[in-house]
Amino acid sequence: MTKPELIICRDPDELAHAAARAVSRCASRQILEHGQFTVALAGGSTPQRAYRLLAHGTGETSVDWSKTYLFFGDERWVPWDDERSNYKMAHDALLAVAPIPADHVFPVPTQLTSPQESAASYAATLGQFFRTTASVPPVFDLILLGLGDDGHTASLFPHAPALDVTDVPVTSTPPGTLPPPVDRVTLTYPVLNAARVVLFLVSGASKAVAFRVVWTGRADPHERPAVGVRPAGRLTWLVDQAAARLVQNDS
Ligand code: 6PG
Repeated sequence: MTKPELIICRDPDELAHAAARAVSRCASRQILEHGQFTVALAGGSTPQRAYRLLAHGTGETSVDWSKTYLFFGDERWVPWDDERSNYKMAHDALLAVAPIPADHVFPVPTQLTSPQESAASYAATLGQFFRTTASVPPVFDLILLGLGDDGHTASLFPHAPALDVTDVPVTSTPPGTLPPPVDRVTLTYPVLNAARVVLFLVSGASKAVAFRVVWTGRADPHERPAVGVRPAGRLTWLVDQAAARLVQNDS
C-alpha cells in the first residue's frame, strides 16, 4: 500500500465536493483504462451530499453511468424502503436521480430469509460479476467508506467475528454498539484491501478521536477496525476540519 493520503476539507460541503470530484476522476480513469468503473458505495449519512452532487454531476463531478456499476460496502438488514437502509439513502440521493441503468445497480438482497443468506447471495453476485471465486476477492476500482465514532468501517465492528472472516467476500454480522441496532451484511477485509482505490469520507467533531487513533495506525484492528483497511492500491482520507482537529496534516 502506498502511504495514505490525507486531504483536510474546510467543512462538510467542501468534503462533499472533493469526494464527488474524486469519484468522477476515478471513474474517468478506470473507464479509460478498462472500459468500466466499479464502485462500492458507503452507507451512513456522510456520503449523502456527495451522492447528490454526483446525481447532478457536470464537468468535474460527472460520471459516465453507462459504464459504471454500483455495489454496496455494507447494508443494514432491513427492507430497501426502510429509512435505515443504505440502499434507500443512495437511491434517494443518487440512484433514482442520475441516468443509471437499473441493471448497473447491485443492492444487497435483504429480502431473503436471514442475514447469512443475504451475505451468501451477495457474495455469489460479486463472484458472477467479477468472475472470481470465494478465495479470490473481487477487485473494485473504488470503495467508499465511512468511519464510525468507535472506529468501525463498513459493518466491521470492534471485536466482531466478521473481522477474522477472510475466506469469503461478504459476511453477516450482528449490530455493533452504535445505532441502528440491526443485523448487517458487509464486505470483508480481503475485498476492502483488494481495491484499486479506497476513499474514506469522515465528517464531524464526533469522529475526531476515532480518526486520530486510526490515522496514527497504532491501534489493533480488532479495537478500531478501520485500521485494518490497508488496500493494495491507493488509500485517501477526505476529512473535514472538525474531524481532523486532533491530527496534524504532515502528509
Ligand atoms: C453504515 C455505514 C457505516 C458508516 C459509519 C459512519 O451502515 O452505517 O456503512 O460504516 O459509514 O458508521 O456513518 P456516518 O456517515 O453516518 O457518520
